[in-house]
Amino acid sequence: MQPPYLFLFFFIPLLLPGKWANPEADLQVFQLLMTSFFTNISCAEVSGVGLLGDMPIFTLDPGNWNMHLHWPWAYNATAEGDTEKIISHSKLFLRNLVRYVHEMAKKQRLGYPLVVQIRAGCVLHPNRTSWGFLDVGKDGRDLTAFKVERDRWEPQQPSQLAEVVSKSLTSMKAITGLLKHLLSISCRSHILALYRYGRTDLERQEPPMATVFAHMPSPAQILLVCHVTGFYPRPISVVWLRDGQEVPPGPLLNTSAILPHADLTQNCSAALTVGIAIAVLLLVATASAGGVWWWKGRKGDEATWETREFII
Ligand SMILES: *[C@@H]1O[C@H](CO)[C@@H](O)[C@H](O)[C@H]1NC(C)=O
Ligand SMILES: *[C@@H]1O[C@H](CO)[C@@H](O)[C@H](O)[C@H]1NC(C)=O
Ligand SMILES: *[C@@H]1O[C@H](CO)[C@@H](O)[C@H](O)[C@H]1NC(C)=O
Repeated sequence: MQPPYLFLFFFIPLLLPGKWANPEADLQVFQLLMTSFFTNISCAEVSGVGLLGDMPIFTLDPGNWNMHLHWPWAYNATAEGDTEKIISHSKLFLRNLVRYVHEMAKKQRLGYPLVVQIRAGCVLHPNRTSWGFLDVGKDGRDLTAFKVERDRWEPQQPSQLAEVVSKSLTSMKAITGLLKHLLSISCRSHILALYRYGRTDLERQEPPMATVFAHMPSPAQILLVCHVTGFYPRPISVVWLRDGQEVPPGPLLNTSAILPHADLTQNCSAALTVGIAIAVLLLVATASAGGVWWWKGRKGDEATWETREFII
């Protein structure tokens, strides 16, 4: 028997155009994520971030409620349309939000501490139409959502609180009218402005780097771990092929979640256990780079190894 290090892996990078491109990749989502922590009747801590896809555009300073823009071009984009007006009114909006939650807590006899989360924004489809959303959660559960097309708030859980809050918010006609405008028109034009000014950063593409490690947990098995790093943007497809067929998810194939790095590139890994005599291929494709990195791994000397059934 040969020692495991004599395994030879041939890694053949190939570039194939667009075939694996994911049509969803052209969806653009801009969203504001806000978390408010209400400690007691007189105290609230608010934090928030504005994201385009998974790229942070601004952060709300919890200390003074100022917005910090992350990119020089975000200032240009912000100077257009309604965004500047929205930012200048954001402290008033936050004060009203905090007051509303405290009043509701008092009326509905809610206990402190309580956590309110808000997710608001829009999706810009490839055909340039957009869809706005605004969801509110309390203590980690969906509570109510604003339905832009129906001009009203709808409960997202079967509770009296969800009914009361939805009804109370729907009755504020000036606010529902404003929200409808912000979530459809302003949000859409903000995404377009961000793209106009920030194209270089937003459309930057970093190809994935795939590294395959092999380890033998037993004489008849090999564990292949593919670590994929440095790619941007996020959509990626990593598959192992056996005889040209994609290996389906199962106990022998683990793919990790995608984790972002500080420079916004990502990493993920895919681990596969196979019988040693089986040739496998690894395909790594980023949707928007339109490229496929095709790696081929093969056992070195088949005759010296006892052939076992593939264990997937
Ligand atoms: C509310 O919570 C804050 C922070 O924990 C604390 O400093 C303050 O004394 C509390 N106020 C009341 C009325 O309990
Ligand atoms: C635009 O695309 C979205 C999502 O694919 C679809 O739901 C919508 O109907 C389309 N609108 C038009 C006007 O084509
Ligand atoms: C996949 O994960 C499961 C549970 O964490 C573990 O038992 C199994 O060994 C893993 N398989 C591979 C191929 O890493």
